[in-house]
Amino acid sequence: MRKFTSAKADRFTESVIRDMTRQANRYGAVNLAQGFPDFPAPEAMKRAACEAINRDVNQYAVTWGAKSLRDAIAVRSAAYNRIPCDPETMITVTCGVTEAMCVAMLGCVDPGEEVIIFEPFYENYGPDGILAGANPRFVRLRPPHFDFDPAELRAAFTKRTKAIVVNTPNNPTGKVFTRKELELIAQLCIEHDCLAFTDEIYEYILYDGAEHISLATLPGMAERTVTMSGLSKTWSATGWRIGWMIASPQITSALRKVHDFLTVGAPAPLQEAAAVALQFGPEYFRELARGYQARRDLLIEVLRDTPFRTVVPAGAYYAMSDISAFRASDDVSFAMQLVQSPGVAVVPGSSFFAQPSDGRELVRFCFSKRDETLREAARRLSLLRAP
Ligand SMILES: Cc1ncc(COP(=O)(O)O)c(C=O)c1O
Repeated sequence: MRKFTSAKADRFTESVIRDMTRQANRYGAVNLAQGFPDFPAPEAMKRAACEAINRDVNQYAVTWGAKSLRDAIAVRSAAYNRIPCDPETMITVTCGVTEAMCVAMLGCVDPGEEVIIFEPFYENYGPDGILAGANPRFVRLRPPHFDFDPAELRAAFTKRTKAIVVNTPNNPTGKVFTRKELELIAQLCIEHDCLAFTDEIYEYILYDGAEHISLATLPGMAERTVTMSGLSKTWSATGWRIGWMIASPQITSALRKVHDFLTVGAPAPLQEAAAVALQFGPEYFRELARGYQARRDLLIEVLRDTPFRTVVPAGAYYAMSDISAFRASDDVSFAMQLVQSPGVAVVPGSSFFAQPSDGRELVRFCFSKRDETLREAARRLSLLRAP
């Protein structure tokens, strides 16, 4: 019989992160695997969504995003990111950063071109590249600070490089890229006439005074950067599927075409609510970061009393831990054991590496959870002993 599936689809597996949530549900485990909050989204935003539905905002929004939302994104990105942009020609609203990154790859990268990805990486970037026919080149972020070697980055740029993906604050490492690091990335992008795709979905989740810098604000980068962010993390609404991308008008015209034929548009009433949410005052964003810092500190303190060796994150809501003290055969069997007993779901480190064996001594904890969830996880983790 003919093979009904594509060679592209054969090249990646189902998401390990999303599978760990299914495993957590199956075993009644505390889910510290997938990156979503288990606390409510802001009341004012939820009310705005209900009002929009009651006003019958039920039909397709403008393909590249409701005007109210694009206007709110433009104001917020000028104020916070220092990226001035015209909402009419430079903003595209998508179904999350997930769609945005795929659109960026499909809209800007041709088959055979190369895309540089820092590793460990958020697992979607691999399949995104494959769908676009791109060849990924990986540059390692090394603990304890998840720095990269400038020479390794320089060597990764070739004649075929089209773009580099920069995710800051970073999932899974919690790294926040410094200005000096971003300056080198910018210099190499300009030298090699490449694009940057920045995933800034955790831009407001920063600890200990860390600063978020948007790569597009560095000299020469505005015209070659696609800046992406969204509602999922900052407004605790991962299921609403609202994201956005900001790019030059020329790049945006390609992005909008790809987005149109992929999804037509993001959910119309939720876009209206997102426009309200983006106008929340500075107190909302301060409180978000403060709340996450408390959760981070709680998790780190808990893990300090266990055999896990954990890197303290500077941003985002994940912590990477070394599991070598447990002498497990690998990260996947360790995670499968942990989800069953004592019942805590984490993500095996291998899902963040091109070569799974590179992540075999790592797992990722997610701490975007209520205190009681983290305390229950702590109680269970305290039962663990190294052999
Ligand atoms: C780095 C990163 N980018 C993108 C996403 C997904 O974003 P969205 O919900 O906007 O599709 C996640 C979710 O965990 C993420 O960690």
